[in-house]
Amino acid sequence: MLKMRKIHPTRSLLIWPSLPIDIYFRSNSDWKPFPLDQDNCRLYSLARHAICNSCHALGLKSGDIILVPAYHHGSEVEALIEAGLQIRYYEVKENLEPDPEELQSLMSSGVRALYIIHYLGFPQDAAYWRQWCDDREIMLVEDAAQAFLATHNGKPVGSFGHMGLFCLYKTYGLPDGGAVIANVPLAPPSGQPKSGVWRAFKRHINWIASRRSELGIIHIMLKPIQTKLNRSWNRLNKRTHIEFEVGDASSPPSSMTRYLLPKILDEQTAHRRRENYRFLLRHLGDMVPPPFAFLPEGASPFAFPLEVVEPREFLARLRLRGVNGLLFWINPHPSLPVADFPRSKSLREGVLALPVHQELTLENLLQIVDAVKEARASSTVQVVSAG
Ligand SMILES: Cc1ncc(COP(=O)(O)O)c(C=O)c1O
Repeated sequence: MLKMRKIHPTRSLLIWPSLPIDIYFRSNSDWKPFPLDQDNCRLYSLARHAICNSCHALGLKSGDIILVPAYHHGSEVEALIEAGLQIRYYEVKENLEPDPEELQSLMSSGVRALYIIHYLGFPQDAAYWRQWCDDREIMLVEDAAQAFLATHNGKPVGSFGHMGLFCLYKTYGLPDGGAVIANVPLAPPSGQPKSGVWRAFKRHINWIASRRSELGIIHIMLKPIQTKLNRSWNRLNKRTHIEFEVGDASSPPSSMTRYLLPKILDEQTAHRRRENYRFLLRHLGDMVPPPFAFLPEGASPFAFPLEVVEPREFLARLRLRGVNGLLFWINPHPSLPVADFPRSKSLREGVLALPVHQELTLENLLQIVDAVKEARASSTVQVVSAG
């Protein structure tokens, strides 16, 4: 049980990038990173909407089989199922790559595509998987939801596959925004945009709360209440897997996202994320799970992962110090036979993710390091040593 209950006035830090309040005075950036520089790039409200719509354009039909990692978020799986595809799961290796032998054993005449995920913005060897798919005349879908701005051997991730997907709002403090690129023409979303003003406002609040402890403390106290209210509301409405729901797949990005995106794009973003990641790695490296213990040149880290024995308790302790982490993918998609994929299961149960985004200040990074060290020093929280 967590005994330390006292919350100290502190800045509040979230995984999600915050939205600087001076953004409205910035001019539009000339820089258009991949896939935004491509004529065939389409923007949706969420990446799951892009998946739903683009599978058909790619020629994937109802009943076609797609090989999907057991270690996944769940919303991408839901979107693939909604597009009519059959999911055949594969386990990830220790380095989170697929095992070619296992994939080969899963091949049958109905298999039409391989789905790979660039976990936490760390690039997979997508060139190798593209060749692997070409050799078997199937398609490669690259999920770069967490890897916008990442590169592999100097080429943007998402550009190797027949289709690549990105979440813009995971890299920048935008209200929403999912991008897709494919090697076939894609139709634009047909729905009406939402305003996105409320979400943009919340991201501004997060930005202030990460700099001002007066607001940070209110933020820290209100967050659990908001989470509980949301949970009760969802239970009342019998929405058990709300985080996977696809919603209206024809939704375009909000008007605020369209307005803010050209202002917030910055060539230094991936570099800053890597610098923050390196800083945390220097101080907390022995707690990082092996696949993320070395930062590749082209990574654009989405979050900083730690492996601990009691992630819930660890997170609760961090929260008291203003660091709001995530239980990283604790719930798989309900279609996954969890016990058949032990490595994915143990990753889900032991990995939590901390902020590493480009809006963090040096003080914020030091706050994260101190909070982790303090939680670690507590007698009840054990750490899985990477060494
Ligand atoms: C790996 C991965 N793919 C796809 C998605 C879906 O993204 P969105 O929430 O924009 O639909 C997510 C969301 O977290 C994800 O983590």
